[in-house]
Amino acid sequence: MPAKNIDELIALCKRRGFIFQSNEIYGGTQGLYDYGPLGVELKNNLKSSWWKSVVYERDDVEGLDAAILTKSTVLKQSGHEDTFSDPMVDCKSCGERFRADQVPDYCKKEDLTEPRQFNLMFKTNIGPVDDGKTFAYLRPETAQNIFTNFKNVVDSTSRTVPFGIAQMGKAFRNEITLKSFIFRVREFEQMELEFFVHPDDDEKWHKSWVESRVQWWKDQGISEKNLELYDVPKDELAHYSKATIDIMYKFPHGLEELEGVANRTDFDLGSHSKKQKELNIQSNVLENNESNSKLALQDENNNWFVPFVIEPSAGVDRGVLAILNDAYFVENVDGKERVVLKLKPHLSPIKAAVMPLKKNDEKIVSLAKKVKDDLQKLGLGRILFENSGNIGKNYRRHDEVGTPVCITVDFESLDNHTVTVRDRDSMKQERVSLDILLENLQQKIKS
Ligand code: GAP
Repeated sequence: MPAKNIDELIALCKRRGFIFQSNEIYGGTQGLYDYGPLGVELKNNLKSSWWKSVVYERDDVEGLDAAILTKSTVLKQSGHEDTFSDPMVDCKSCGERFRADQVPDYCKKEDLTEPRQFNLMFKTNIGPVDDGKTFAYLRPETAQNIFTNFKNVVDSTSRTVPFGIAQMGKAFRNEITLKSFIFRVREFEQMELEFFVHPDDDEKWHKSWVESRVQWWKDQGISEKNLELYDVPKDELAHYSKATIDIMYKFPHGLEELEGVANRTDFDLGSHSKKQKELNIQSNVLENNESNSKLALQDENNNWFVPFVIEPSAGVDRGVLAILNDAYFVENVDGKERVVLKLKPHLSPIKAAVMPLKKNDEKIVSLAKKVKDDLQKLGLGRILFENSGNIGKNYRRHDEVGTPVCITVDFESLDNHTVTVRDRDSMKQERVSLDILLENLQQKIKS
């Protein structure tokens, strides 16, 4: 049986150290969450899997890790200063502020102010003088600094279209309406790829990226029945988009966007480029008198063109929520409830737990420690040496956090160098020789 509601997942996340409310000891801060000991592993594993798939396993994508603090000019040219806002109203009676389309019933219409645009970007001061001019924004998406680094990457790697630049990292939005745990928050992470193509090839690449992104989510353990594609209607498209396909997931609170795959045309490079008039830019860009870089390439006939951008943009936190939701099962085993996270092994926070059967037997403990060390050296992720509690309880705890295998070292191990390997999903236990344990685990985690 899957989770009945989001509260079951939230309870597991807190109980087992995946995700905590931020600043909880001071009453918490809305829209901010901290990833605990297991959450940070899961999140890092998800990000590594994305990086591996979009950078290492391809030969047409480079990586980038740009600054979070972003000059206001960048976000003026991108359109964020002017359009990245929601209409807000204040209630004079209760003193609260709401999005104009989400005013609760208890506020009377006559108590509401006229709607005003409220920009969602966080501002901060750069340098010691707070004169209102030297501010920067905390980036609202990772994408913009990919565009501003376009020429740097092209010049340093000799790339030409089609090629992409990938970046993962924090983004910040002063969201007014928060939603469903980590689904919509104010500080989150994105995994964004800006894939630059010749304008004649945009539709082909858009289609191809939608397909490969859906496959990747399935490879992370998301079941097909929980995914849907949403072809965003023209009147709902972002100002930069010619077409967007959203990859939607059936979250516990409903069907919502997990990732967007947009055809951003030549809007981005066109917006940040100098000499715009010479470039035959197709989209409607703001005049740029500040950029010192021509963000265009030459074709085989030496004609300049501004590449189109296909952008698969995924939320890490939404990914974590979807993966936890898909992996969470409550089963009945011999009349008792078993909670198990059937995570894909490459995402599991702990890859294996090694336990000595007797915690005070020096020989068993020392062999168990050696097994842990040997497995750790494989570089598969975290291997836990577990020298507390009884074996049965440890098994159940590791089921709840998605550890694929538990390995028990006992007296027999001292005699014949075998250990008991217990599988999380089938709960079957088998005796395995230490010689083949390493190879078996390697195969399992990479699956
Ligand atoms: N560069 C394009 C862009 O940022 P977006 O649809 O605004 O597009 C992309 O965001 C992804 O980032 C979304 O599909 C979602 O997964 C994630 N995301 C956006 N806002 C979020 C928020 N407030 N909290 C958590 N994730 C968010």
